[in-house]
Amino acid sequence: MTGRDNELWQQSWRDRQTDFHQKATNAHLVRFWSTLGVAPGERIFVPLCGKSLDLLWLAGQGHSVVGVELSPLAARAFFRENRMQPRRRPCGQFTLWEHGRISILCGDFFALTAADLGEIAAVFDRAALTALPDDLRAPYLAHLRRIVPAACKIMLLTTEEPEAWETADQPFAVAEEITTLYSDAFNIELHHVESAFEADPDPSVAEEIRVERKVYLLTPKPAAGSGLPAPSGRPAQADHQTGAAEPG
Ligand SMILES: C[S@@+](CC[C@H](N)C(=O)[O-])C[C@H]1O[C@@H](n2cnc3c(N)ncnc32)[C@H](O)[C@@H]1O
Repeated sequence: MTGRDNELWQQSWRDRQTDFHQKATNAHLVRFWSTLGVAPGERIFVPLCGKSLDLLWLAGQGHSVVGVELSPLAARAFFRENRMQPRRRPCGQFTLWEHGRISILCGDFFALTAADLGEIAAVFDRAALTALPDDLRAPYLAHLRRIVPAACKIMLLTTEEPEAWETADQPFAVAEEITTLYSDAFNIELHHVESAFEADPDPSVAEEIRVERKVYLLTPKPAAGSGLPAPSGRPAQADHQTGAAEPG
């Protein structure tokens, strides 16, 4: 299902085409993480982690952190650039790299099982769901749900292009996809929206494009029969800022 896409990602690491990588910890992670209410010591899953510095920041909050990443070049670069000497060993269909509180399972997200991950309290997704092509986003959300515990909370950071949906050139209705796959079991809050202008990925296009950087917080609904009311599944509305670009 993902073979061609996987090869493109592996190639982009070989070619060092990794513009998605942020040279600093994600500002929205730092600003909003405490809102999710995950205690230090609890284990966090970072799908499609690349060599993100967010792994380091989460570990610094006292969490144990497990990422999954296809490219061994990314895993190697993460530990090397952060001056860590990881242990490395086979782990089922994956290679497990680990140092201190940080582990990276190197292999295909779609081959992960709940047993590979262990007891996860929360998921941090930045540019994972939104990095995938249209036909893989629903399978990604469905698989994520299969491999994390039902009580798991999720922070999802997206960068969306409202004008692209209006012209239907690139329909990318993230909120609808999340609602379809998660609203039966999760309360979905669109916690924060920020508008910014950024360079078009196509270098021949001079004008900047307007993007919206969004923070969704997904928290499990009380189990049926708990006596608590179950709120509606549509994302609750967020605060909305317009202004200076922050990394998405
Ligand atoms: C857009 S990057 C985001 C990386 C990271 N979340 C960040 O914020 O820098 C997507 C990453 O997912 C990895 N990836 C893509 N498909 C994958 C898959 N099926 N399983 C594991 N990793 C995958 C790519 O190699 C790439 O490093």
